[in-house]
Formats: sequence, C-alpha cells, structure tokens
Amino acid sequence: MVAQSKKADQGKIDNRYKLLDRAITKHHNSGYALIEILHVAQGIFGYLDNELLYYIANALKLPPSRVYGVATFYHFFRLKPQGKHTFVLCTGTACYVKGANEIQRALEQECKCSFGETTSDGSVSLISARCVGSCGLAPVAVIDDKVYGKMTVDEALQRVRELRETEKERNV
Ligand code: FES
Repeated sequence: MVAQSKKADQGKIDNRYKLLDRAITKHHNSGYALIEILHVAQGIFGYLDNELLYYIANALKLPPSRVYGVATFYHFFRLKPQGKHTFVLCTGTACYVKGANEIQRALEQECKCSFGETTSDGSVSLISARCVGSCGLAPVAVIDDKVYGKMTVDEALQRVRELRETEKERNV
C-alpha cells in the first residue's frame, strides 16, 4: 500500500496518483527506482512539486531531502509548472501504435509550439511522457489533474482550445 496523497485525504480522488502508485508498486517501492519513479511522476504530473516529492519519498521510504536532492540535481526534472495548464500526452509504444503521434502533430500545429514547450500566451505546456501505465486505454492524455483514455485528435484539439479560451477570458 502506497502512501495517501494530500488530495486523496481531502476526499478528492486524483487519478494521477493511481498511475503513480502503479509504477511505484511495479518497482516494489524500491528506493533504487527513484530516478525512474521521478521520470514517471513528471510524465504524469508535468512537473514535480514539493507535495509530490514528499509523496514519492514516503512511498519509497527515502528521506525527503534525498528525493529533493536528486530532483534538483538533474536538469531534466522540472519543479514548477511552466504553463497555467499541462497537457501530457503518453507517447509510449501502446499509445504510439494507437495514434498518439497524430495527436502530437495536431496539437503542435494548433498550439504553434513543440512538445516540451509552452504556448506563447503561457496557457498550456505540452509534455510527452513515456508509458503512464494505462496502456489498455491508449492513447492516454493527462490534462491537469485528469486522466483521459482513448483520446482522439478531435478531442485533444477541443480540450486544448477550451483551456486556452478559459485563460483568455480570465485575462480580459
Ligand atoms: S504506452 Fe501509453 S499508457 Fe502505456
């Protein structure tokens, strides 16, 4: 059993933690898998905030300082969100086979930025992830705190447009 997240404690189920728990369990809650777990977590959440690092430390039974130290040492780990929203697209094998590459292309065209970047208005960061552990639902996207399976090009475009529209209205 993996540690409970703060969000779960608040009664709100955050499915991203379920995906993370699955990866942690797959690695038998081993501290040796720390870097791999940080990769998975960043793939699912888009970045690693303090709550998440603490959650991982707890699950792997490692001192939080060690987890924080590793996350800050490697430049490919992000500790802060870039855009207001994160659109994480799984590009693992199962998702790729089911069309994740088409979704990726369509989003890059729509957002006029590549995966790994943020739209020029700062509203959405496009992030690609390796397998997030829900291959049966491929292609999978994690948009902010929600996991979406069987994603299509049309749905991805619609969701990203909604996010950008919401931010535009907020800034008016
Ligand atoms: S490859 Fe995408 S969830 Fe496994």
